[in-house]
Amino acid sequence: MKKIELILFFIGIFSEISSSQNVRPLPKPLINIHCGQKSFVRHVNLVPNTRPNQNIPATCTYRIHAISGFICQMRLDFQEFSLLPPEPTPFPRCISESMTVGNVTLCGVNNGQHIYVPINPLRGERFLDVTINTQQQLNNFNPRSTWKISVHQFECPLGQARKGNAAVQAPQRQAKLGLFSDWVAPLGCLQYFNQPNGTVESFNLNNGVGPYIGDMNYAICFRRLRENTSIRFIPMIFRLGYAFTTANNTGYDDACYSVTPTIGRAEDFIFIPNAIADGSTTLPAVRASRFCGESVLSQTITSSPPGGPFMIYFNSDQLYEVPDKEEIGFRFQYEIA
Ligand SMILES: *[C@@H]1O[C@H](CO)[C@@H](O)[C@H](O)[C@H]1NC(C)=O
Ligand SMILES: *[C@@H]1O[C@H](CO)[C@@H](O)[C@H](O)[C@H]1NC(C)=O
Ligand SMILES: *[C@@H]1O[C@H](CO)[C@@H](O)[C@H](O)[C@H]1NC(C)=O
Ligand SMILES: *[C@@H]1O[C@H](CO)[C@@H](O)[C@H](O)[C@H]1NC(C)=O
Repeated sequence: MKKIELILFFIGIFSEISSSQNVRPLPKPLINIHCGQKSFVRHVNLVPNTRPNQNIPATCTYRIHAISGFICQMRLDFQEFSLLPPEPTPFPRCISESMTVGNVTLCGVNNGQHIYVPINPLRGERFLDVTINTQQQLNNFNPRSTWKISVHQFECPLGQARKGNAAVQAPQRQAKLGLFSDWVAPLGCLQYFNQPNGTVESFNLNNGVGPYIGDMNYAICFRRLRENTSIRFIPMIFRLGYAFTTANNTGYDDACYSVTPTIGRAEDFIFIPNAIADGSTTLPAVRASRFCGESVLSQTITSSPPGGPFMIYFNSDQLYEVPDKEEIGFRFQYEIA
């Protein structure tokens, strides 16, 4: 085959795979590594220790090497993730215990959550360090703090390939990419949901106890297939701090984020572009994009962006005013339509 034919052939494979609603599940990693160890495989579990009574250092670092120059993302799945919660003063931050990877720091309870971290080995970023700081030593094996994090590495599709002719140079690699292409997140997404329906929630929601971590601003993305036009959210839990209330607005748009920057005014919200909240017995339907307070409890939100991936943003500020303006978080069921 000529180069161009080979490229078209692989493009054909991609479009076939990514137009299907069925997502191939990720394999369960067969290898566990513990604090201080390095990984050189595509799928690996990070665990505190691999032997009973093994000492856990206060700072536990795992070094995950990209398995090839073509890797562009790593996905961390928190099978178990239970660290101390964020300290509330002056706003919820991960101080006593934390997990840091790239510029993301998390703590509290995050079982079942995941994050994506970008990497570019061809620009010299050959590994990612995952660092977990705990008080294990102080507490003498405090059984409360535990984790099991699965890390998966993905190559990016042709359009995002680090080298223009990657497909031609490494056909077998591209075949592998086809296997996991449904798991590659759009650029810049901290979280990516590739199923047609499911649940999305804030970090350290902790079954409705919270609080969410302050000073975060990140994108949550959902897989959009060719015929999909909208995404629907059904809030199960929704309490995002303070809403500046006016007669007709209890937590939409300017109530969540003032047009003029105002020191000391809360700015915790979720941004859902081009959205309609369908109203409730006490509230009229509204068209809005920012939601805060308890505004969308017992409503359904439908977002119909004209194109591009389905994407919402979470924003938390550097204020904390409990108990009257609770910062608990959100849990949405979502459905792609
Ligand atoms: C991480 O850094 C990038 C730029 O390097 C920035 O855009 C992003 O907001 C940061 N993420 C967080 C969670 O701070
Ligand atoms: C998605 O929808 C299907 C069919 O309605 C349902 O059986 C399944 O439980 C849903 N999955 C999630 C994660 O909500
Ligand atoms: C609130 O809504 C009512 C009726 O929809 C309207 O008459 C009134 O002007 C609104 N008030 C404000 C402050 O926007
Ligand atoms: C989303 O798009 C895919 C393929 O384009 C289609 O098979 C699926 O039915 C769509 N989902 C809905 C709920 O319309």
